[in-house]
Amino acid sequence: MRARNGRSGPSQDPLWYKDAIIYQLHVKAYFDANDDGIGDFVGLTQKLDHIAELGATVVWLLPFYPSPLRDDGYDIADYKSINPTYGTMHDFRTFVRAAHERGLRVITELVINHTSDQHPWFQRARRAKRGSAYRDFYVWSDVDTKYAGTRIIFTDTETSNWSWDPLAGQYYWHRFFSHQPDLNFESPRVVRAVIDVMRFWLDAGVDGMRLDAVPYLCEREGTSNENLPETHGVLRVLRAVLENEYEGKIFLAEANQWPEDVRAYFGDGDECHMAFHFPLMPRMFMAIAEEDRYPIVDIMRQTPEIPENCQWAIFLRNHDEMTLEMVTNRERDYMYKVYATDPRARINIGIRRRLAPLMENDRRRMELMAGLLMSMPGTPIVYYGDEIGMGDNIYLRDRDGVRTPMQWSIDRNGGFSRSDPARLYLPPVMDAVYGYQTVNVEAQTRSPSSLVNWWRKLIAVRQGYRAFGRGTISFLTPANRKVIAYVREHGNETILCVANLARSPQAVALDLARWRGRIPVEMLGWSPFPTVGADRYVLTLPGHAFYWFLLSEAAVAASWEGEPRERLPELLTLVFARDNPTLFGGRTQLLLEYEILPAYLPKQRWFGAKDAKLPGVSIADAFRFDWSDAHGFFAIVTLSGATEDARLPYLLPLALVEGDDAESALGSAALARTRTGARE
Ligand code: BGC
Repeated sequence: MRARNGRSGPSQDPLWYKDAIIYQLHVKAYFDANDDGIGDFVGLTQKLDHIAELGATVVWLLPFYPSPLRDDGYDIADYKSINPTYGTMHDFRTFVRAAHERGLRVITELVINHTSDQHPWFQRARRAKRGSAYRDFYVWSDVDTKYAGTRIIFTDTETSNWSWDPLAGQYYWHRFFSHQPDLNFESPRVVRAVIDVMRFWLDAGVDGMRLDAVPYLCEREGTSNENLPETHGVLRVLRAVLENEYEGKIFLAEANQWPEDVRAYFGDGDECHMAFHFPLMPRMFMAIAEEDRYPIVDIMRQTPEIPENCQWAIFLRNHDEMTLEMVTNRERDYMYKVYATDPRARINIGIRRRLAPLMENDRRRMELMAGLLMSMPGTPIVYYGDEIGMGDNIYLRDRDGVRTPMQWSIDRNGGFSRSDPARLYLPPVMDAVYGYQTVNVEAQTRSPSSLVNWWRKLIAVRQGYRAFGRGTISFLTPANRKVIAYVREHGNETILCVANLARSPQAVALDLARWRGRIPVEMLGWSPFPTVGADRYVLTLPGHAFYWFLLSEAAVAASWEGEPRERLPELLTLVFARDNPTLFGGRTQLLLEYEILPAYLPKQRWFGAKDAKLPGVSIADAFRFDWSDAHGFFAIVTLSGATEDARLPYLLPLALVEGDDAESALGSAALARTRTGARE
């Protein structure tokens, strides 16, 4: 168990990224400290407590470098400084220090596949002589037919991966927007320049770098130009620098590929420490839409083992569209039908929506998705705003609809900025369901049952067990496919996760034979469930519910486990008149004869008719006693249905104890309790 959000700085474990919770945000969207309508580093620093309190351990920043912002900063015009609207280098360093003080690490973007066409390298290249080192910073051709086997990624905007540059008199290569020329990694100068950029930010204190669009670094005729061995060669060079010069810093690969192709980005543990698991993401959404665990189990079955020191990064939503590149055509059609009926929600090969609208704002479904995210193998990433159920705005351009200002309070601009609303970089979400009046951090922080407080609790539970970040996963195969069940194991931790993917309640019978004798303890409420026995373990789950159980060897069985079904009610209220209490007449007699005595008598050592069925117990007579502090009745009780011997009457002392004393007297001879202030 670790408490890693204290003020003592980030954990020193070199494998820290395996136990991390990453929180992804855009500086411009988080908090505006200088009232210009755009978030900045000073603002972000002020809001770090929210991230630390959520339980995150890493902040991942989207690009914040000088840029014409035609691809929201992924079009970088200067690698080694800060976009002045977000602050200064000093502000950045202050932010990193403040994050570290809170135990938070910082990951930034290393966008090296391409630059902006405004970058001085490109401006120099297009003017440089053909074949010169400067020209060769980028990939040029006299014809636009080279590399014909390469797919287009931004299908909504681009028709070719080549664009004509009149100044250079050649075509340049670009895998994304035409204003983002690809760097040429065949040039050793480019590799050196990129290493220089990398060192710059690592020296500034960042703990890791997300390698953007990494499968496309190198090109070779006759290939798809993705995942080439040359690209892996470049990555190994970068990793060697990281390894030799820095301690405990990591690479996170963005490779939107099938798992077996992504596997290569881990190398032999000598390329990237982490890589996103892209195909898992849409399949979690597919599983709850289809109410069938198959999509998740299937993709996890196809997920190869990775080196010991490596880790998957898993996510539900991010700053991009929910990409559907890594699903089959049939699956893509299905996803569009379920999650993007409005064509405006579609972009490129994906869906531009946030988590809450995808889940139709259904709290249970959001919780279920969070439960899956936090228990699948890998390090989870939470996209800013999803912890409060923020909505989106599909009427904004490109992917801006999921990049709107963070909603802090009901104040002007959602508490994000005090600027004139017209100045904001994007309008905040303002509709009645998801708008900042309804969905904001301040209100949710004050409400114990809010979504944000629920996320905090979930993350805190996860952070108590290494099995979530480091453990193996094995899927159980119950016949009811609407339920997904898997076991995470690490050292002596065994955690059973069970989730109902359906909207209707479901029952499931699990084969837990391996864990016979263990007591499943539900981890969010810490309640023991019945001990695992020889039979299948039957669970019932409300619609979209999920459980995490610690399969404990040490837990104490529930106090009620193993008790006979017919037992003395712990507490039954009998009402007696204070001045003349009697056992006869009314509900008191009925309760005694039909409920209390038939349950009580057979359990007494002296009772002779233990084996007999007791069709009737009657109170034949009763005498009151009233000694100094003892009051009650001697009741003569007769039985019917028992053998003749057993039918002998019993003389039963019944003490009358009042109010609270009755509860403490339970278990002794006290059978009755009078309510204080009872009818006189
Ligand atoms: C980023 C996108 C960006 C693209 C091109 C991606 O991998 O996540 O937001 O548009 O790179 O720069």
